[in-house]
Amino acid sequence: MISRYLITNIIYFFQFFVMRKKDLETAVVIGDRALGSFLIFRKFIFDFPLPKNKEVEIYGLLFPSPIISASFKSDHQIIEMWLRLGLGGVILKTIMQEKRTGNPRPRLQDAYLNGEKGLINSLGLPGSGINSFTETIKGAKLWEYDRPIGISVGGENSLEYLDNVKKIDSKIHDIKKQYFYELNISCPNTENGQTICQDPIILESLLKDIRSVTDKVISVKVSPDVSNKILQDIGALCANITKVLINAGNTIYVKPGQVGVDKYNYSMNGGGLSGSPLFKRTLEMVHLFSKFNIPVMATGGISSFEHIVAAKSAGASLFGMATSLVFNPYCIPKINSKL
Ligand SMILES: Cc1cc2nc3c(=O)[nH]c(=O)nc-3n(C[C@H](O)[C@H](O)[C@H](O)COP(=O)(O)O)c2cc1C
Repeated sequence: MISRYLITNIIYFFQFFVMRKKDLETAVVIGDRALGSFLIFRKFIFDFPLPKNKEVEIYGLLFPSPIISASFKSDHQIIEMWLRLGLGGVILKTIMQEKRTGNPRPRLQDAYLNGEKGLINSLGLPGSGINSFTETIKGAKLWEYDRPIGISVGGENSLEYLDNVKKIDSKIHDIKKQYFYELNISCPNTENGQTICQDPIILESLLKDIRSVTDKVISVKVSPDVSNKILQDIGALCANITKVLINAGNTIYVKPGQVGVDKYNYSMNGGGLSGSPLFKRTLEMVHLFSKFNIPVMATGGISSFEHIVAAKSAGASLFGMATSLVFNPYCIPKINSKL
């Protein structure tokens, strides 16, 4: 926490000094590199025990701790560090068909809503593209931890989602390791500019198509921005397809000015708010989905044991975290020790 504060402020000072725009992403990249260089001391600073007898089983996937990383990071070295700190599983950053550099920077900043701190981002799904992903995933060291790995898939339209799943599955279906797919249906795509999350009929046919090509568990990641009526429809349709779980949810769309970010320091007109301000909506969504007979993962604003207790009593059995891992990954052993 202190080191993040120091690194961020030194970088902000430097950016100010050379008259560049304030950019939190630089601090995150440098912080990640610094942590990576500590890996030689990993036994002392990263190795924490998993909680005892707290496994969660979902459709045969065994999570030794119910806390997992939400989809936002693709750097395996950092993900490995979180696993050593005690995550029960991980979800990799959404992979799209083509290689993407994402939106112009600055596209990630600290954000504040009603006095609560979070992040605003509009990275724009940068990534290496599906071909490069399928080349590297099979041999990844992450499998050695034998904890479920979620492969988050995106697409410009339904066909692309399906095609991406097919490509990945053809490479790894015989790997004999624990993995599942997550459909990031909350990113703007589709021909009419809507997300698949806003259109349960498209989602249903996509899920059926994917189910016909793989028997792996599918997590459907929904957006907190869509209405409860649509979420109800999604819950009902997911309950009719085998081995589907719901991940509630993703970031909330905001304008930079709404969350205390100067427009000058943000390249886009809006972005996704994450972190503490989301927690209330996360609980509401978990509660809504708990009425369907499907496992629910809670994602959005989780950073403490108390959050886990509240989300669990609302009906969640897995707990995803992103922003809290950026702010302080040592929340992992802290939460595990209280479970
Ligand atoms: C920098 C950043 C990048 C993200 N990238 C993705 C992504 O690639 N795919 C996805 O499904 N969600 C992505 N998310 C959303 C997170 O997975 C998560 O759903 C959201 O941040 C809410 O959780 P949190 O409050 O714990 O951060 C991203 C979030 C952040 C902060």
